[in-house]
Order: sequence, then structure tokens, then C-alpha cells
Amino acid sequence: MRIVLVGPPGAGKGTQATRLAEKLRIPHISTGDLFRANISQQTELGKLAKSYMDAGNLVPDEVTIAMAKDRMEQPDAENGFLLDGFPRNVSQAEALDEVLETEDVKLDAVLDLEAPEEEVVKRIAGRRVCRKDSSHVFHVTNSSPKKEGVCDVCGGELYQRDDDSEETVRKRLEVYHTQTEPIIDYYKTQGLVVTINAMGPVDEVTGRALEALKRESAEK
Ligand code: AP5
Ligand code: MG
Repeated sequence: MRIVLVGPPGAGKGTQATRLAEKLRIPHISTGDLFRANISQQTELGKLAKSYMDAGNLVPDEVTIAMAKDRMEQPDAENGFLLDGFPRNVSQAEALDEVLETEDVKLDAVLDLEAPEEEVVKRIAGRRVCRKDSSHVFHVTNSSPKKEGVCDVCGGELYQRDDDSEETVRKRLEVYHTQTEPIIDYYKTQGLVVTINAMGPVDEVTGRALEALKRESAEK
């Protein structure tokens, strides 16, 4: 399956993507995690991306599209992938369409995670991620690690993302509404959007997502 996950910052895209990718046996491709890996390795791409991310802005399309394309061309993504955080504006969605067309494949669904702003703000305020791998995500109260400050998965140090400050989160939400939400209409015209309620326990949301994806593929 080829799936795009959308939803505001803090809706639970990364949390759900990890679970869905495992169940569906497809790689989880998160452009945010790829940028954070570049930042921790202090690459040129990481240095460039950090300046945009810390301000809550999108990293320029040119570098983002090249990075996403490169990742989608890896052998593990040949039969499907779950994109988390890409595309994030209409020109990235058009670029993805071009990649898919070249490969003669199509998206199966765009899964839209819906959560109210006051909830996503609370989720982000309590989020802690792993320094070794930012796809290892915890929450101080909702899904706390067994040992405070230590990643359950790999033992890495947990920290608060630099872009999770209140001011940057406000900016990221604004960018989501102005630049990312239009891709939902873009994909609605292709009949691909499945919206689910992202409120409630993590496992329930995963169950809802799997049901919705099953219904969507049965209808095709
Ligand atoms: P990115 O890393 O993609 O951040 P985001 O989209 O803002 O989303 P988040 O990762 O903040 O939230 P999430 O939905 O994954 O929530 P999570 O599962 O962690 O992007 C960061 C930056 O990189 C961008 O601002 C931009 O600068 C740049 N970037 C990335 N992609 C780009 C692109 N394509 N183009 C240009 N720039 C790009 O959950 C949040 C918290 O809630 C966690 O603590 C979790 O434990 C908790 N939680 C999850 N589910 C539940 C639940 N059901 N109940 C209670 N708590 C829950
Ligand atoms: Mg995320």
C-alpha cells in the first residue's frame, strides 16, 4: 500500500505511523525524522533544515522533495510506504504525483488525522522524543517511558524537540492551516481522503485507521 498521513502537528502522525507501518509491513517515511537525523549527524542538509524547523517554517521544497524522492527510491519502499509529513504543500503533492507516475503506481489513500487544537497543544507540550531516533515518541503522562528520560526502545536519551516551544508550535499550526490543509482538497479531487477521529487511546485510533483503510481499499 502507498499511504500519505496528514494532520496537524501533534495529531499523532508519528505515533500511528509506527504502528500502521508494522501492521501493513511497509516502511514509515517521515521527512521530519529524516531532517532530525541529518541535524544530529550535523550534515549540511541538517544545518539548513534546522534554521527553518526552529522557526516553525517549512524547509524549502527543492531540498525536501529531493530527500523524500531519494528515500522512496530505496529498495524497501518498492512495494509501498507510509509517508508522514510529506507532502506538506500542493507543490510537494504535485512532485509526489510525478514520482508515482514515473513508477506507474498510485496512492491508495490519504489518511487525515483529525484532532482539536487544544488537544494537539497538550500532546506537544508533554512529548519527549529519543535523541538516537526521533521516531521513538513518548509523552510524560499519556505514554510515559518505563524509566524517566530514557527511551524504552533503544535506551537513548529523551528530550523535548527544539520546535516544541509554545511560540514555534503556534507558528507550525499556522503553517499547517495555510500551506498543508490545501493538500486535503487536492487529494479529495482524486477521491483519496479518509478522515478519522484521532482522539482517544492510541490503540483505538490505530484500530480506526486500519478499519478505514480496509474500507477504502474494499471500495476500490
Ligand atoms: P514533523 O516532524 O513532521 O512535525 P509535525 O508535522 O509538526 O508533526 P509532529 O511530529 O509534531 O506531530 P505528530 O502528528 O507526529 O504527533 P506525535 O505522534 O509525535 O516536522 C517538523 C518540521 O520539519 C516542520 O515544521 C518543518 O520545518 C520540517 N518538515 C518536515 N517535513 C517537511 C516537509 N515535507 N516540507 C517542509 N518541511 C518539512 O504525537 C504527539 C504527542 O502526542 C506524543 O507525545 C505522543 O505520545 C502523544 N500522543 C499521540 N497519540 C496520542 C493519543 N491518541 N492520545 C494521547 N496522546 C497521544
Ligand atoms: Mg511526527
